[in-house]
Amino acid sequence: MKLEILKSWATTGPSLEELLPLSIYDFKNEADLLKSIDKLHFHLTESRESIEDLYQDPKLVAAYFLFYFATHIGKLDLYWSRLKIETQIYLSSLDWVDFGSGPGTFAWALLSKSGDQKSKYYLVERSSLMRIQAEKVRDFLGFQSQVEIVDNLSKLKLSRPTGIFFGHSYNEGIEGEARFLSHYPWSAVVLLEPGNKESFKQLLTLRSILHAKSYEVDYPCSSKAACPMDLEGNEDWCHQFARLSFPADIERLSQILKINRRDAANIFHVYLPDTLKSSTSSLPRPIIVGGVWPEKGKYEWLNCEVTSEGENKLIPRRILRRNLTTQEEKKIRNLFPGDSFEIADEKKGP
Ligand SMILES: C[S@@+](CC[C@H](N)C(=O)[O-])C[C@H]1O[C@@H](n2cnc3c(N)ncnc32)[C@H](O)[C@@H]1O
Repeated sequence: MKLEILKSWATTGPSLEELLPLSIYDFKNEADLLKSIDKLHFHLTESRESIEDLYQDPKLVAAYFLFYFATHIGKLDLYWSRLKIETQIYLSSLDWVDFGSGPGTFAWALLSKSGDQKSKYYLVERSSLMRIQAEKVRDFLGFQSQVEIVDNLSKLKLSRPTGIFFGHSYNEGIEGEARFLSHYPWSAVVLLEPGNKESFKQLLTLRSILHAKSYEVDYPCSSKAACPMDLEGNEDWCHQFARLSFPADIERLSQILKINRRDAANIFHVYLPDTLKSSTSSLPRPIIVGGVWPEKGKYEWLNCEVTSEGENKLIPRRILRRNLTTQEEKKIRNLFPGDSFEIADEKKGP
């Protein structure tokens, strides 16, 4: 088993050179590959109606693998590091279903985290070409006994504590009414979705469903009370940012195509069964929503704080630069939505 290779893929990202021998389609040359990525990008971002057809074209599935798999897999590592340590340990102990897995992007990212021989990973993927692509990756990495690939959730015989992961797939409407909840008593529900307003709305609906079904949000919210961003007419939404970097040959593709894959906006949510949450959760903490904006002489941001009445409320916060040590300033610059940050009263600005 090539666990070390997988670990490097899940942190620094795989290079194009490493992925090309595993692609289900042999592109004639770089121009041929660039054309397919460009077409795929257009359909994924601008004209999502024909999205199902994309995954029936070997060239586009291969282009997805060589460009999107390569630039998605490292995201989990970044968001994972913002989770509480006890959440990380708990999630690493589970078996996982990667629903709408594509080439297995997040199953591989999760496997790289646990590396535990006992955990099993199930890829549920409707497109037969994506499944073939996923099999090629699995056979190369050598995890045949730990990784099963199926076309439908109902094919799985689960018996151990298992989490379900959606990566850029819930937004395709694949489980619009949260039907997946009736399949199994999931030990965790995790979503890493595009960071746009449409996804946010979909996830808020799911958040309410999960709260009604004995799950509780573990990240990013600090309380299951209603989301204060969910207001009629509110133009803003809560999402995270990731700054990624890739091997030179992947960077080259994105530069030629002028597709920025370095600055990723995502919505990353983790839900745990509420029985588990009540024994592990710490006190509600203020979390940052929206970025931290450096202004002349100060930083400003929006906190989501739990009031004494138990409501989540948006509260603008600011801190004067002259009140910060160099270390505090460095920390503040690296904060992103979902992070907790409290400031001493004497440091608050006017
Ligand atoms: C944008 S891709 C995401 C792939 C991968 N999770 C990632 O983030 O790189 C969405 C995938 O969901 C799959 N999909 C859509 N509807 C599905 C369904 N009902 N059951 C299983 N897979 C589905 C598509 O075939 C496609 O491969």
